[in-house]
Amino acid sequence: MTYAELISYSHRTLRCAGIDGEQYNTACLAEHFFGLDRVSLSLKRYDSPDPCSEKKFIDAVKKRSEGCPLQYILGMWTFMDCDFFVGEGVLIPRDDTEVCVRECIEPMRKIASPKIIDLCSGSGIIAVTLARMFPSADIYALELSPEAFKYIRKNIEYNNIKNIQAVNDDIFKYHNKFSDGYFDLIVSNPPYIKTDVIPKLQREISYEPIIALDGGADGLVFYRAIAENWLCKLKTGGCVSLEIGEEQGEDVSRLIKRKGISDVRIVKDIQGLDRVIFGTKI
Ligand SMILES: C[S@@+](CC[C@H](N)C(=O)[O-])C[C@H]1O[C@@H](n2cnc3c(N)ncnc32)[C@H](O)[C@@H]1O
Repeated sequence: MTYAELISYSHRTLRCAGIDGEQYNTACLAEHFFGLDRVSLSLKRYDSPDPCSEKKFIDAVKKRSEGCPLQYILGMWTFMDCDFFVGEGVLIPRDDTEVCVRECIEPMRKIASPKIIDLCSGSGIIAVTLARMFPSADIYALELSPEAFKYIRKNIEYNNIKNIQAVNDDIFKYHNKFSDGYFDLIVSNPPYIKTDVIPKLQREISYEPIIALDGGADGLVFYRAIAENWLCKLKTGGCVSLEIGEEQGEDVSRLIKRKGISDVRIVKDIQGLDRVIFGTKI
């Protein structure tokens, strides 16, 4: 087939499958498998790719039409201007998480070598982004899933980061390794979806690991663990930045206020939804 035929095949297939943004998806797949942007594709529209690239492109369109997320097919995604390997077994980076990271920047600028922990680190987007901004920080990235942990390692290496210690362990246990008052910042985007809501989520999300989504019956299990076990590990004046579900602001604020966190703010995302809880230890 020519490039033009392959592009219209992709548009048609994705549209029939009910995939939103068939043009964007097709452009990303064409760039990935043919190495051609929109302009080059248009100039070469009557040419044909080599048979191997053509087959890979057609297979990818089929996979996408079945609901496999674009990010998993491409194997890489950008978060805050930095590229991360992603794939089945690790949560896809979301733009919303930028809110959680941005809140940390000003307070960490004031500390020469801040000690930071990213709990439930996934692909490592939060830890790696902070490590690039604060090369003199001493950062831990804690993640339980062995599949996700492979991605953290890869992403640390790919981004040439030297100041992250990645730890394959459990948020419910690993706090015992640190003395009270150790950290300047605890940051986390933990699993926060209520267990019974998960089966009702959109088709693409069913490809993502359940361990990255399931926040227990009320969605708050991980916030309780952070409040109970981790907030005592903050120094006086240390900060906590937690990504939350849009309806969890009041509950999570209450949990952390009880543990000596003050100036608690709920920060909204670009859609105006509650997205982050930020506070300071008194
Ligand atoms: C919502 S994802 C967030 C991933 C990443 N921080 C991000 O923002 O893209 C939550 C992560 O918590 C991890 N996780 C689940 N249970 C855990 C536990 N008990 N201890 C440590 N990590 C856990 C999951 O494997 C998943 O990678």
